[in-house]
Amino acid sequence: MQELMVKPTLLRFETCKEMADALQIDDNDVMLTNRYLYEPFFSKLHLPCHVVYQEEYGAGEPSDEMAEAIYADLPHAAKRIIAVGGGTIIDLAKFFSLRTAVPILDLYDGKIVPEKGRELIIVPTTCGTGSEVTNVAVLALQSRQTKKGLATDAFYADCAVLVPELLRTLPYRVFATSSIDALVHAVESALSPKASTTTKFFSYRAIEMIIQGYLQIRDHGRDARIPLLADFLLASTYAGIAFGNAGCAAVHAMSYPLGATYHVPHGESNYAMFTGVMKHYMNIKSDGEIAVLNAFIAALLTVSPGNVYEALADLLDRVLPRKPLREYGVTEADLQIFTDAVVNDQKRLTDNNFVPFTRDEYYTIYKELF
Ligand SMILES: NC(=O)c1ccc[n+]([C@@H]2O[C@H](COP(=O)([O-])OP(=O)(O)OC[C@H]3O[C@@H](n4cnc5c(N)ncnc54)[C@H](O)[C@@H]3O)[C@@H](O)[C@H]2O)c1
Ligand SMILES: [Fe+2]
Repeated sequence: MQELMVKPTLLRFETCKEMADALQIDDNDVMLTNRYLYEPFFSKLHLPCHVVYQEEYGAGEPSDEMAEAIYADLPHAAKRIIAVGGGTIIDLAKFFSLRTAVPILDLYDGKIVPEKGRELIIVPTTCGTGSEVTNVAVLALQSRQTKKGLATDAFYADCAVLVPELLRTLPYRVFATSSIDALVHAVESALSPKASTTTKFFSYRAIEMIIQGYLQIRDHGRDARIPLLADFLLASTYAGIAFGNAGCAAVHAMSYPLGATYHVPHGESNYAMFTGVMKHYMNIKSDGEIAVLNAFIAALLTVSPGNVYEALADLLDRVLPRKPLREYGVTEADLQIFTDAVVNDQKRLTDNNFVPFTRDEYYTIYKELF
């Protein structure tokens, strides 16, 4: 059994200038980013690279259509692509690092074999996706009305670079949704049948760092996150290392139809599913790794393991209030459609469930969360 695979070299710098000097950014590089990240952090450095602003191709999380539009405008001779942004930018850049990336649906359908075409450097600016260390990229597939991850070793970055100062401008809400995403990565990978002793080491350390940070926010207010942003960034990379090996599962699988249909940010749509899935696991199997996990989280929250989900929900609600599905616009009829989308499209993830769920069980969870 494989214990751990971490492909990219992990670098860390205090400032963007140190990063730019170390990477020797030149005119063969394309930086994919957002203007509101480029201007405060990079414009004063007068970098010679070509810069592409993702927001000029549409708002929100990435889709196959957005990816194809940006791809058409890229300078194709570029040798390296440098992604500076959240999961949206990072996942798009993974496609642009391939030799052939379009039509995107052909990649998903196995008609194009993904092959690395240029070097990829990833610099995350949220504390959530862990995508800088994984071989997964997720796009909304417009014509199929769902979000779907594509996993291929061709997506591994050559270099993942942590520069905590980039999180200085991260709005509180994106901090909240992205860090909950990281927490869910850590929890789902800890419970995955593919987890190893080493992946669990990363999962549990990420859970500890994120929950301890949330306790600071609960006790001292939102600004308490500021001195902890470097820890949250590291925790999100740790969770990425864990789920990049052991995988995510039902929470992510069930969140994708919601995210794609009602444009709910990824971390928030995960949170909408999180406690529902965990309670359902417990109904089926309450011993094994889930008992270890519950005891671990209960100790962090200083509650008994029997009360762990209530206490965790209370804490998470202080960070980001959870809404029932209907408040996102979901209808009862959607619940069947969402269930079908999970069963038909998300097997890559549901294979990693702590215990297998039937179609009826997915439907029941959606209904309970409705
Ligand atoms: N590939 C993977 O393994 C993986 C894992 C989890 C999530 N994802 C994907 O990642 C996406 C979500 O990524 P995310 O949560 O990082 O959010 P995001 O990239 O969508 O960013 C959210 C918003 O915050 C802004 N932003 C990002 N960093 C900022 C900063 N430092 N300062 C100011 N504004 C900033 C963005 O421009 C955007 O408007 C989803 O599409 C999700 O499916 C991928
Ligand atoms: Fe995620």
